[in-house]
Amino acid sequence: MIWKFITFFVRKLDPEIAHKLTIKSLKIGLHPRLNQSVIPVNLGNLICKNLLGIAAGFDKNAEVINKVHFLNFGFTEVGTITPMPQHGNSKPRIFRLEKDKAIINRNGFNNLGMLEAKKKLEHYRKSFPVGSNFLVGVNIGPNKDSEDRFNDYRVLAENLSEFADYISINVSSPNTPNLRDFQKKENLEKVINFVKDGIAISKTFNKKLPIFLKIAPDINQQTLNSIIETAHSQKIFGLIISNTTLDRDNNLKSKKSNELGGLSGKPLFKKSTDILSRANKIIKNNNYKLFIIAAGGVSDSKTAYVKILCGAHLVQLYSSLTFEGPLVANKIISGMLELMKRDHIKNILDIVGVIDNPKEAMNVAINGFKNHKN
Ligand SMILES: Cc1cc2nc3c(=O)[nH]c(=O)nc-3n(C[C@H](O)[C@H](O)[C@H](O)COP(=O)(O)O)c2cc1C
Repeated sequence: MIWKFITFFVRKLDPEIAHKLTIKSLKIGLHPRLNQSVIPVNLGNLICKNLLGIAAGFDKNAEVINKVHFLNFGFTEVGTITPMPQHGNSKPRIFRLEKDKAIINRNGFNNLGMLEAKKKLEHYRKSFPVGSNFLVGVNIGPNKDSEDRFNDYRVLAENLSEFADYISINVSSPNTPNLRDFQKKENLEKVINFVKDGIAISKTFNKKLPIFLKIAPDINQQTLNSIIETAHSQKIFGLIISNTTLDRDNNLKSKKSNELGGLSGKPLFKKSTDILSRANKIIKNNNYKLFIIAAGGVSDSKTAYVKILCGAHLVQLYSSLTFEGPLVANKIISGMLELMKRDHIKNILDIVGVIDNPKEAMNVAINGFKNHKN
């Protein structure tokens, strides 16, 4: 009850101030301590104590990783971290679309830079060494005015890999001009090789550190095919599907829906799940080994279940934390455990990607497998 009230109050504030206040509250220990119901997931090298994580952008400077443990998430993705500190775009740059349960942001990688993040990660790892079952992904991207963006990825991987359970290559934020061009085949191969070089010369003991590519939802089938081909041929661990969208649905109700930037939250669910489902089909048809982390509009147990049915091995959220408050992960995981019980599912990995169509997946999430025809 108290957290509902606090969430309601925080939502009245300017979104960027609300975010700063949330990070401060977490730092001083003002957060719920949840009784942890979990859905563990074992992805070979990556063992995650709970399938739900916080997406990039929430903890940009790796400041509150140990506090996120208390909110019943199984992993977090810090960043996006750039080599040099960066102010980002001018404010206001985050807009809450209350009526649509959505957010538009045009932050532009505001962060304190790699060296600050490194200090924070180093400190965290003293208590929770790499290999602890709460995973930390490190999301990296170039500075806006960098003269060599490829080299930025290498420098970041070199400096931050030793603290990461996985590296997430961000080639999809819409707020850094031309960043999405890195999704093109030649660029993508080059970025991946620069990251691999960075890992090779870093202090990490795990030279096969899992790499994920975080992709945009605004891509056509040809680009999706080419990204997946590249990920497979470069032996990438997986994809994160997806970042925010530049598209605006005609049904958006909020006045702020025309603000420039990336849209996330409820209206992103359909688009990001369509891409996820299409990626799942390509991966299945070709027998590729690529894991998927799904993000985009997850706000309750059914939306999370749909992501799994459409191909996700792990699920992330950000926007619904703003709207639902700090109990959201607990609510989602408890609800998913009930759905699994209803459907007689013992291991969540048994239903990853088993449904080819997002609409049908929602039907299964609502009604169970009993009326589902294969
Ligand atoms: C305010 C805000 C800042 C974000 N910053 C980043 C970022 O720095 N790097 C990144 O890869 N994604 C960033 N994202 C995108 C999220 O990680 C996520 O992919 C997207 O919001 C979809 O999930 P959601 O609908 O649960 O919010 C940001 C999202 C929001 C709302």
